[in-house]
Amino acid sequence: MSFTQNIESARAETIGANGVAKAALDDALKRCADALAWVRKRHADQSLPLLRLPARIDDLDEIGTAAARLRTGATDVVVLGTGGSSLGGQTLAQLADIAVRGAEAFRSGPRMHFVDNLDPGTYDKLLSRLPLATTRFIAISKSGGTGETLMQTAAALSAVKGAGLEARMGELFFGISEAVKPGRRNGLRDLLGSSVAFLEHDPNIGGRYSVLSNVGLLPAAILGLDIQRVRAGAASALAPVLAERPAAEVPAALGAALNIAAAAGHKNITVLMAYADRLERFSRWFTQLWAESLGKDGKGTTPIGALGPVDQHSQLQLFIAGPRDKLFTVVTVDTKGQGPRIDAALAKRAGEADLGGKTIGDLVAAQGRATAETLAKNGCPVRTMHLPRLNEESLGALLMHFMLETIIAAHLIGVDAFDQPAVEEGKVLAKQYLAGQ
Ligand code: PA5
Repeated sequence: MSFTQNIESARAETIGANGVAKAALDDALKRCADALAWVRKRHADQSLPLLRLPARIDDLDEIGTAAARLRTGATDVVVLGTGGSSLGGQTLAQLADIAVRGAEAFRSGPRMHFVDNLDPGTYDKLLSRLPLATTRFIAISKSGGTGETLMQTAAALSAVKGAGLEARMGELFFGISEAVKPGRRNGLRDLLGSSVAFLEHDPNIGGRYSVLSNVGLLPAAILGLDIQRVRAGAASALAPVLAERPAAEVPAALGAALNIAAAAGHKNITVLMAYADRLERFSRWFTQLWAESLGKDGKGTTPIGALGPVDQHSQLQLFIAGPRDKLFTVVTVDTKGQGPRIDAALAKRAGEADLGGKTIGDLVAAQGRATAETLAKNGCPVRTMHLPRLNEESLGALLMHFMLETIIAAHLIGVDAFDQPAVEEGKVLAKQYLAGQ
C-alpha cells in the first residue's frame, strides 16, 4: 500500500455544521460515475496518453541512456523550463534531497539546478558562477515557444559560446520538446540547432500532467532514482480507477467528490499540508496542477500549499481560527522512531522532559496527527493521507492520484482540465510591451 486516504473527519456528521454535507458528497459521488466511465474510455481507446504512462516501460531505456550521458563528467545539471515543464522534475528530485533544507549539500553526484522562474539577477549569478565546461543544460518546453525558457536557453548558449565552448554544444545541451508540427515553428529546436539531441515530448501530455513522462523522469534518472518504481507507484493509483468499482471505493474519485462537495458548501479553498521536507515541491506541483486545470469559467477552488510542522508557526492560526472557507488535506509520512533521538538529560534541562528519549520523527508524527485532529475539532473538514514510506513508489502513486483527482474534479464542474486559455492573454500583452520598449 503506497498511501492511505481517510475522509471521515471531513464529513459533516462527525465534525458538526462546518463539515462537508453528506447530501452534497453523495451527489458528487453519484456524478463521479460518469467521470470514471469517461476516464476508463479514454484509457481503453488510448486517447489520453497520460493514462498509459504508468504501464509503459518501452521508453525507460532511452530516458536512462540520456540520463547516463548527461551525468557523465557533469558537476552541474541545469534544468531550464517553467510551470509544468519543471515542477514535476522538481518534485521527484526532492526524493534525492534536491532543495531539501540543509540535506542537499551532502548529496553525491552532480548539483542540480531547476531554473523555472525568470529573474535577471538570479540567472546572471548562476551563469557567471557555473563551471560551464562541466555543466549540462536541459531545456524543456512542450511547445518550444515559451518565452521564459527561450530566454534562459539563449542566455545559456551565449554564456557557453562566450567561454569558448561552442564546439561542445552537442555535449553540453539537451532538449525535450514536441516534434516539429507542419506549418509551425518550434523556437527551442531552432535555437539549439541540429547538433543538440532531443527527447520527444508527447504532444498529447500537457506540462502539468507530464511528471511521469520523460519531462519528470529524465531529471529523476540523472539523480539515480528508480524511475520504473515511480511508474509502478502510479499504476497502483490508477488501478482502482480502471476497475469497475463504485466511486466511493476509488480514492481519486472520493477526493474529487470531497473537494466539489466542499466547494458547494462555500469551502472554496483547498489546502494541502504535507509533513515532510521532501514533499514541499510536491505541494507546489499540486498547487499548479489544481489551479491551472480547474480555474475556468468562474469555477475552481483556490489551492494553497503548506509544509508541516514549519507552517504551524505561520499559516495554521488562520487555518484553525480564520474564515471557514477551507478543505484541508494533511499528508503525513511514517516518521516514528526516525532521526536524532533526544537525550533525556538535555530534554529535562530544556524544560521539556517528555521529549527525552523521543526522536525528531516521533515529534513530527505526533504533530501531523495533532494538526489534523485540531482542525477537525475546530470544525474544519480534513482529509488525511498517510504514506508508510516516502519513496519512488509512494510518490509516483501520490502524483497519479492527484492528476486523476484533478481530472475527475474538472469533469464534475464541467471544465477542460487540459487547457489554460486565461494565461495566454497576458503572454500576448507582455510581448507587445517588450516590442514597444
Ligand atoms: O502545465 C502547463 O501546461 C503549463 O504550466 C506549461 O507547462 C508551461 O506554460 C510551459 O509550457 P511549455 O512546456 O510549452 O514551455
